[in-house]
Amino acid sequence: MILKSNSFKLLSFAALLLVVYSCKVISDAKEFPDDQIEQMLATMSIEEKVGQTCQVTLDVVAKFNGNAAADPAAVDAEKLREALIDYKVGSILNVGAHTLSREEWNSIINSVNRPYNEGKIKIPVIYGIDAIHGMNYTRGATLFPQEIGLAATWNEELVEKCAAVAAYEVRASGIRWNFSPVLDLGRQPLWSRHFETLGEDPYLCSQLGSAMIYGYQGNGSIGKEKVAACMKHFVGYSAAQSGRDRTPAWIPDKYLRELYLPAFKKAAESGAMTVMINSGVVNGIPGHTNYHLLTEVLKGEYGFEGFAVSDWEDFIMLHSVHKTSEDLRRAYISAFNAGVDMSMVPLSPQYKEYCNIMVEAVKNGDIKLERLNDAVRRILKVKKKLGLFEKETFDQSSYTEFGSNDSKSLSLNAALESITLLKNDRNTLPLNKGKKILVAGPTSDNLIFLNGAWTHTWQGVDTNYNTKGCLSVKESFEKFLGKNNVLFAQGAELYFDKGFERTRYKDLEDYKKKIAQSDVVVLCLGEMPSTEKPGDIHSLNLDKEQKELADIAYESGKEVVLVLLEGRPRIINSIVDGADAIVQCYLPGDFGGEALVKLLYGEVDFSGRLPYTYPKYDGVIEFYDHPASVDRSKSGDFSAYDPQWDFGFGLSYSKAAYSALKLSDNLLTGDEKLKVTVSVKNTGNGKLKETVQLYLSDNYATLIPAGKRLRGFKKIELQPGEIGEVIFEIGKDDLFYFNNDQPVLEDGTFTITIQDLKSSFEYNLE
Ligand code: BGC
Repeated sequence: MILKSNSFKLLSFAALLLVVYSCKVISDAKEFPDDQIEQMLATMSIEEKVGQTCQVTLDVVAKFNGNAAADPAAVDAEKLREALIDYKVGSILNVGAHTLSREEWNSIINSVNRPYNEGKIKIPVIYGIDAIHGMNYTRGATLFPQEIGLAATWNEELVEKCAAVAAYEVRASGIRWNFSPVLDLGRQPLWSRHFETLGEDPYLCSQLGSAMIYGYQGNGSIGKEKVAACMKHFVGYSAAQSGRDRTPAWIPDKYLRELYLPAFKKAAESGAMTVMINSGVVNGIPGHTNYHLLTEVLKGEYGFEGFAVSDWEDFIMLHSVHKTSEDLRRAYISAFNAGVDMSMVPLSPQYKEYCNIMVEAVKNGDIKLERLNDAVRRILKVKKKLGLFEKETFDQSSYTEFGSNDSKSLSLNAALESITLLKNDRNTLPLNKGKKILVAGPTSDNLIFLNGAWTHTWQGVDTNYNTKGCLSVKESFEKFLGKNNVLFAQGAELYFDKGFERTRYKDLEDYKKKIAQSDVVVLCLGEMPSTEKPGDIHSLNLDKEQKELADIAYESGKEVVLVLLEGRPRIINSIVDGADAIVQCYLPGDFGGEALVKLLYGEVDFSGRLPYTYPKYDGVIEFYDHPASVDRSKSGDFSAYDPQWDFGFGLSYSKAAYSALKLSDNLLTGDEKLKVTVSVKNTGNGKLKETVQLYLSDNYATLIPAGKRLRGFKKIELQPGEIGEVIFEIGKDDLFYFNNDQPVLEDGTFTITIQDLKSSFEYNLE
């Protein structure tokens, strides 16, 4: 049994109110009797075992509607027979070109399961899907904020609930394996998948990642409402030096251990049933051949008992892209022997070649039978845990809560708690209903800008599948104020030119005319939806046309609220000063428009906080835990730290006053724990949700210490005038750092910072 390790953090807040983190027990894989799996392994042929390690995409077994638009309406029995019976393929993934109805999923899943249910194959298929922000490939499902928005809520309980609904709706579509959560650290804002991360901080990412896993898998005994999680992409994928997707990263062991690995360690401890491997290269070694990280660290040191799946075509890319193998045979052998248990060789005839080559490699000893057995054992255990061996005909109609109103209001709440107020001069916000509003800007009038990629299609740009009944920002204003009370002018539109995102003006004169007629301009800027390679960019700077729209509005003298709908923090330095208010929405999902309007009019207070350092300059990317980032005044010329907004920053209408930071002792020895208490008072007029953030600094260390590191957070709710008390616990696990890959704990003085309060203590090893 593994206790979620956040259970040791005992927190309480508010007079009389004591909150103890619930100790969620995540059962481990050993609970399952292995005899049956061992018996199965003993009777399986090499061909059957290799088939279990092979995963193909739905298109391989699909019937196509008309042309080659990869639009599978149903499964082709002959192609399925070939894959499942001839090649004994054990796993299928993905959707075709676009989202499907529940009925279509019902039919596809039952077709895929039929050969097993009819006894034609011995082992059921495991079907995997990218339900990245809710079940984004089923029509009518609940779409949540993307992970970066969930991170901005700083609310573990809420994040877990969102994941639980996503799991339910994945199950309601007949699928039991979700390729989520993304646990890559958001430390390369150019990266097209920055929005898929839980931000830049390893502690925030670990806590929220674990909450997502718990939401997906529950206590590990997967019932009818849970799915297997897939932590991805192990490890360092997000750190590409060029900022472009799937390009090399350099991460010294010290920082791999301190920054990039912790969320995966925590996820493994939280019982994550599967892992997907980094398509890129770290320190010259492709993720897929890194025996040390995958087998020694993840499976060995962290005790990960699930299975590892490759990313898309990555066994092949070892030969075709990374050039670490002279041919496919060597490529497959090197990845499999490094510890990747299942290969996503998605297309045909790729998968057939894979099966043939692998069978031969096992027969001639290049892959040991024990290694193959280990991989298959891991896969079968997960299949068993998911209940796939029970012969069932899937019936989607029993999932009556699919897309329910409760789920939709949960998504709305998540958006409300994520959207972050970055600037509010002269009390521009909350908006006054009496003022004439112009809604403008390239991202103002389409749901795709609220959702981003992985929404009904891979890239999320096709507007044909937008969820019926959900509203763009403009439509949300119209619903709130009445259609006739809202002016609208787009001013510019986003488009792709030779694969790169661009902005062009659209009826600028109309924009200027409408500004003149308005009191307040709500200008929506941002990005086109995109992910992976299609989302590569050359610069973080927001296009000049978008900035020009802001400048035109400023020149008018009207109040201007900038609304950012963006997957990555684009540089807006030159237009920050002119704005009266700035709101970061990230990609808030189907209910983001409605949430934004409620926040702008003060129906609900802002409580989102940045899960990353918002950069000010394109050429200077920095993070809050840089050694010199704590005290800018003292580090003087040595500090490059000058972000647009700090990690953890965000404003609210109500105000929090912090006081009485107390430590239970000023000396901590060995394994002892230190209790840290702080009081927070709501001095504003409305209800306040405040995220109390505890940072720890190792004042001096043999290896350069981080300026400060997040070591605890708690979102609390306070009525006007109410005082809450928050208690954190600090122990030696919070104090160590790494020297290469060795943890180091040293005597010394440590300082705790909560907002602008500080208190120090001494740590003695014994
Ligand atoms: C992505 C993964 C995804 C996989 C399957 C890959 O291209 O990198 O995150 O899970 O495709 O769709």
